[in-house]
Amino acid sequence: MFLSREARAATDQVLAWMREAGMDAKLDAIGNAAARYEGERPGLPCLMLGSHLDTVRDAGKYDGMLGVISAIECVHALHSRKKRLPFAIEVIGFGDEEGVRFGTTLLGSRAIAGIFDRKALDAADATGKKMAAALAEFGLPPERIPEIARKKGAVLAYAELHIEQGPVLEAEGLPVGVVTAINGFSRLRVTLRGAAGHAGTVPMKLRRDALAGAADCVLAVEKTARGLPELVGTVGRIEAKPGAINVIPGEVVFSVDVRAPHDGLRNQTVAAIRSQIEKIAAARTLGCEIETLQEFGVTACAPRLMQQMERAVERQGYRVRRLPSGAGHDGMALAAITEICMLFVRCKGGISHSPLESITAEDAAAGAKVLCDFIEHFELSA
Ligand code: GLV
Ligand code: MN
Ligand code: MN
Repeated sequence: MFLSREARAATDQVLAWMREAGMDAKLDAIGNAAARYEGERPGLPCLMLGSHLDTVRDAGKYDGMLGVISAIECVHALHSRKKRLPFAIEVIGFGDEEGVRFGTTLLGSRAIAGIFDRKALDAADATGKKMAAALAEFGLPPERIPEIARKKGAVLAYAELHIEQGPVLEAEGLPVGVVTAINGFSRLRVTLRGAAGHAGTVPMKLRRDALAGAADCVLAVEKTARGLPELVGTVGRIEAKPGAINVIPGEVVFSVDVRAPHDGLRNQTVAAIRSQIEKIAAARTLGCEIETLQEFGVTACAPRLMQQMERAVERQGYRVRRLPSGAGHDGMALAAITEICMLFVRCKGGISHSPLESITAEDAAAGAKVLCDFIEHFELSA
C-alpha cells in the first residue's frame, strides 16, 4: 500500500537493486524509486522504463513488480558489459498505481508526467489520514512534487513490461505479446442516504434502507455492463453504516469502475449508470450523491514503438501477437509527455489481482530478453 511501512521496505530493496545494477537511484518526492543509467554522455534524454511497486489487497507478486525488476535486469546486463547507449535509461518503480489507499490512481506516474493534481493531497485513506500527512510522515514534503515532473523532450519514450492479467497469451501458447492500447476507465463514488432505524421495530413499508437500494444499484451496473460486449463494470467496494446486525443501514458508500476500449461507449454507459442509480434512489426516497473520482481515456501505444517491440519479439524467436490491455497502467499518465509502448508476459489462467497470480521463470526470462533487445535496438526518432 502506498506510503506504508511495507512500501518503505520494498522501495529500499528496489533502490538497492538499482544501485547494484549500476544506476544512480533515489526515492523521489512522491515516493517513487527513481534511477538513472547515463548514456554515452551525461545528461542525454532518456528511454524511461518501469512499472509500479504498490499492489492491491491480497495481490499476487508480479503485477507491477515484474516490470520494475525486468527493467533493472536489462540495465544490469548493459552495465556488466560496460555498454553505454546514445540515450540515458531511467527506471522508475512507481509508488502508487493501484490507487487502493487514497482512491485515486497513478499518483507516481502522474507526478513524473507533470499531471499530478494537487487536490489529491486532500484525499483521505480509510483511517482518515490525508495524503499530504502520509507523505510528510514518509519524509516527503508535498510541495516538492512539482520538481519531479519531466520536461517534454527529456523522455524519448516510455516502455513497460507487465504480466498480461488476462488469458489471451496462454490460450495461444505465446510467452509475450505487444500491447496496442490501454482501455479507458471511469471511477465513481456513490453515496446513498436513507434512514437508520431499529431492525426489530420499523415496519418494512416505512423503511428507507440505503443498503437495499445499493443492492439494486449493484445489479443495475452488472446488467448494463453485461449487455455491452466490450465493456466491463464492477462494484468492488461497499460500506454500510452504521454497520450493525440489528440496525437498518442509514448510509451506504460504494465504488463503480467502468472500462472500455472506446471513450464514447464508456462515457455513454457511465451516464446511463448514473441515471439508473438516481432513479433507484428516487424510487426509494434515498438521498444520492455521485462523484467522479477519476477518468482516463483510451491510451494508444505508439505504432513506431510497437513495431520496434515486435522486431525485438521476432529477433528473440517468438511469434508476434498484438493485444489490448483491459487493465490500467502507468503509461496512461506518461502518455501526457511521451510516446508509450508495452510488452505483456503470459500469466497462468489469466489470473491477477489475486494471490493465485503466477508466471513461469521461462516466461519471465523471455520477457526480460525481449525488453533488453528492444532497449539495445531503440531508435531515437521515427
Ligand atoms: C490497475 O491494476 C487497474 O487496472 O485497476
Ligand atoms: Mn494491478
Ligand atoms: Mn499493474
